[in-house]
Formats: sequence, C-alpha cells, structure tokens
Amino acid sequence: MDNFIFQNPVKLLFGKGQVSNLAEELKKYGKNVLVVYGGGSIKKNGVYDDVMNVLKEGGMTVHEFGGVEPNPRLSTAIAAADLCKRADIDVIVAVGGGSVIDCTKLIASAAKYDGNPWDFVIQKATPQEALPFGTVLTLSATSSEMNAGSVITNEETQEKYGWGTPLNYPKFSILDPSYTMSVPRDQTVNGIVDTMSHIFEEYFNESSNTPFQDEMCESALRTLISTGAQVVDQPNDYDLRATMMLAGVWGLNGFLRMGYTGDWGTHDIEHAVSAIYDIPHAGGLSILFPEWMRYTMHLNPQRYAQLAVKAFGVDSTGKTDEETALEGINKLEEFWSSIGAPRKLADFDIDDSKIDLMAEKAAARGPLGNFAKLNKEDVVKILTNSL
Ligand code: NZQ
Ligand code: ZN
Repeated sequence: MDNFIFQNPVKLLFGKGQVSNLAEELKKYGKNVLVVYGGGSIKKNGVYDDVMNVLKEGGMTVHEFGGVEPNPRLSTAIAAADLCKRADIDVIVAVGGGSVIDCTKLIASAAKYDGNPWDFVIQKATPQEALPFGTVLTLSATSSEMNAGSVITNEETQEKYGWGTPLNYPKFSILDPSYTMSVPRDQTVNGIVDTMSHIFEEYFNESSNTPFQDEMCESALRTLISTGAQVVDQPNDYDLRATMMLAGVWGLNGFLRMGYTGDWGTHDIEHAVSAIYDIPHAGGLSILFPEWMRYTMHLNPQRYAQLAVKAFGVDSTGKTDEETALEGINKLEEFWSSIGAPRKLADFDIDDSKIDLMAEKAAARGPLGNFAKLNKEDVVKILTNSL
C-alpha cells in the first residue's frame, strides 16, 4: 500500500429537502450571494425556484449568473468573476452538474485574482485566496461536489485541462437525489459511465497489498452495474437515484484511492477529444476506456482478470488470465452499450482527420498515465482503434 495523506473537508447534506439548509450554510460566509447555474434545466425542474425561495426567506441578497455550458469555458468563468468583483460577492452557490461546479471553482479563485485565471489551469500561478462556495448538485457523475478538481476548456486554444487547489473544495454540498430525477436518459448514462471510469482510473495502478481498496472498488462497480441498469428505465425512483448519487460522490472524492496511485491516462485522452469536438465527457470515456484496456491489458493480465471476475462475474475456470481479462472488457462494453452509451468515435461523427492533433494535445504535458505510461504514438493507436 502506498503512503498517503488524506483530508477532505466537504460537508455533505444528503437527502430529500436538504435545500432548506442552504441559506443557513451560506450565511456563515456572508449575505451577498451569487447563484451560478447552467443552460436552464434548473428553471424547468423546479430547483431554481427552491433555491431562490430559500435564499429569499433567509434574507440573502441574491445575484445570478446563468449559462455555464457543458465543458465549461474560460471566458464564462472570467465573465462571472468580473461580476463577483463588481457586486462585491461574499459567497457563491453552484447549482448544477460537474460543469457548473467546475466553473464555479475557477470563478471563486479568479474573483480574487487580477491576472488571467487560465494561469491557474496551466499551473503558471497558484491561487492564494478564493471566494467560499457551496453546491446544490443536480447530476451525479463527476464528484466535483466533493473534490478539489476542476476541468476547464480554453475555447481559443482548444485546450481542456484539469487543475486543482485545496481552495477548490466546496464548503458544503447539498445532495438531494430527487433533483436528479429530471436528468435525461443520455446524461444519466453519462453519469454511470463517468463514475465507473473514475473507479477504473483508480483501480489500475502498480501498488501492491491493496485488498481493502480493491474490494471497495469492485463492490462499487457491481452496485453501479446493477443500479445503473435499473435507473435508466426508472428515472423517478428515488432509491435508485440516491444510490447513484452516493456512488457518484464516492467515485472521485478520494476515499477509493487511498494507498493507490491510479492511472488517469484515459481521462487525459478524453479531455483532448472533447477539447476539439465538444462532446460529453462520458461519451468519450465509454468509447475510449475499453480500447485503453485492450491496449494496456498485457501490462498486468492478472489485475484485469481479477476485475473481470470480481466486478463482471466472469467465470475464470479453465481460462488463462488473458482470456478472462478480455471477457471482462467485452462485458464492460456490452453493459455500456446495453444502457445506450456510445461505442465508437463515429457515433459523434469523428473521423481520423484530427487524430494526430488530439494525440498531440493529450501528450502535450508529457507522457500520460501511471499504470500505463503512454506517449503520443500510443494515443494515436488507441484513438485509431476507437474510430
Ligand atoms: O446546463 P443545464 O441546463 O443545467 O443542463 C445540464 C447539461 O446540459 C444537464 N443537467 C444537469 N442537471 C440536470 C440536467 N438536465 C436535467 N435535469 C437535471 N437535474 O446535463 C447536461 C450535462 O451537465 P454537465 O454538468 O456538463 O455534466 P457532468 O456533471 O457530467 O459534468 C461534465 C464536466 O465535468 C468534467 C468533465 O470533463 C466535463 O467538463 N469533469 C470534472 C471532474 C471533476 N471536477 O472532478 C472529473 C470528471 O472526470 C470530469 O472530467
Ligand atoms: Zn470523469
């Protein structure tokens, strides 16, 4: 087991009606609040009204900034940070999915910075302070509600990178599963794929003696498969949504990766794809992950076979590790296809014309991944296999 230091300060308020605590939580940081949200789903499903009513009853002064796009953009964060400065905002609440929360993280630091906040994303500068913020989650996928990561797209340079700082931890997150009932089928599928992918990124590592972590990951995957298969057809089932919401939080809040180094190469490749084609993050992952697995399986077939048996129920009797491993990867692909996840880049009309550019961007910051160290040529091969 690798040495590690773990700290996660995010307060979770989980369950139906927890939004009633919103004003109370925000008031700890001031009364002048900015509500950040996306393209308008919260105005259709009643979440916007719930939030505004609680803030009004709580006597808060409310400003709002809507229009954060999926794959949030640098220019959007800059515009919202300018509003924070002009309106002397005390505290922000992000109401939405990973994109709204990720954008809010950059807004919070940018509001206290005079330079271009892209400096933080490319690690040219480190934020020294940030506005405090909380979240009201409406889509289970990224775990941004309980981690310090943020993924931002610079639309001018067509770059999409993750960045982090301890200042990016939300002060609190309100997790009401009923707020996710309106998530459409394709985005629900994206949430399942993204959460499972986070676990795969953690699971594929070179650490030894990790039976506890392995079992946690494997059982989380089994739960995601069984619950995921049901929730796509029963979107209004509170219990199923609650399980998915908790799983989404755990996927990337740091608990499952204690003592593991993880890989994260597939996420880097996907970010390069969505930087250029602006496709949903998990849409890219569902295509790339099985191909990454086939490409890297030879590095540790035993690990892959363990995953196949424990998470996908493959019977390994009389089979080599390679055969068992391959069956597990095929089962993963079958499961994702069965719930409607895309399988090939062609599903997004992506052809081979920009493979070199995507690989270039993915490898721009050096070799990708830890379990499998990939260079640009490897990425070209994985992308080509994904066409
Ligand atoms: O914008 P609105 O109108 O709200 O609609 C959104 C959006 O179109 C919609 N939606 C959200 N909640 C809804 C809903 N529609 C109906 N009912 C609801 N309750 O869903 C669409 C997608 O939302 P988005 O926030 O983009 O999805 P997700 O949560 O999957 O976030 C994706 C972003 O997070 C990044 C991805 O790269 C991508 O940019 N990631 C962030 C991570 C992190 N911070 O740790 C890690 C991840 O691996 C990922 O890279
Ligand atoms: Zn992800």
